[in-house]
Amino acid sequence: MFEHSRSEPQVMHPRRAVLQAACAAVGALSTPWLRAQTVSPPSSAAPGPHVLPPLPFADNALDPVMSATTLGYHHGKHHKAYVDNLNKLLAGTEQAALPLDKLILATSGRPDQQAVFNNAAQVWNHTFFWQGLKAQGGGEPPAALMNKVKDSFGSVAQLKKDLLAASLGQFGSGWAWLVQDGDRLKVVKSTGGDNPMTAGLKPLLAIDVWEHAYYLDYQNRRADYVNAVLDKLVNWEFVAGQLKA
Ligand SMILES: [Fe+2]
Repeated sequence: MFEHSRSEPQVMHPRRAVLQAACAAVGALSTPWLRAQTVSPPSSAAPGPHVLPPLPFADNALDPVMSATTLGYHHGKHHKAYVDNLNKLLAGTEQAALPLDKLILATSGRPDQQAVFNNAAQVWNHTFFWQGLKAQGGGEPPAALMNKVKDSFGSVAQLKKDLLAASLGQFGSGWAWLVQDGDRLKVVKSTGGDNPMTAGLKPLLAIDVWEHAYYLDYQNRRADYVNAVLDKLVNWEFVAGQLKA
């Protein structure tokens, strides 16, 4: 399900072993873990029924990079539909008591739970995606995150290139991610609603590359959308806050 942008040594987790086969080496980190800040994805800890979190900014705050029209459909229709579908699927089941992240992990890889997994993961993914954006974002990461980026990718420019390559290399709907894997940062991509947490990876930043994320503003120009997000919207403080100590 996941593919890294560069090759990577083998690991023990079975699902990770599969994805690692398609990885490329990112380079070992030489610095100790950064202390995680207190930012965490909302709704992960709350049991169902699940709710649509409000956007962490006004719906026109990201205009013109991401228009209010796009946010209205993407958050108000698509994200909301995942929440509504998930609650319908969970109604009357024991799974309704599970926090969202535990529900994702419990249903991952189970064909009989595919619909629950897809909707649960898409609820989580979108909530996380919004938090990774802000008006007048982009620029350079905070110093501690910058050090980690340099250790893993060499530069922010290379990280952006890897994220763009993952975004463009994702055939059809999916996501590009910056993740933490042990003492490394990596770029991976996922299909549909798959989330790297199911492979034991810690998501740091998500980029939605479903067409509904960009078609109204960029039509088929996925590269323009991704570059605009990376250059003008990424909330690097949020990304830094996701680092696991
Ligand atoms: Fe989306």
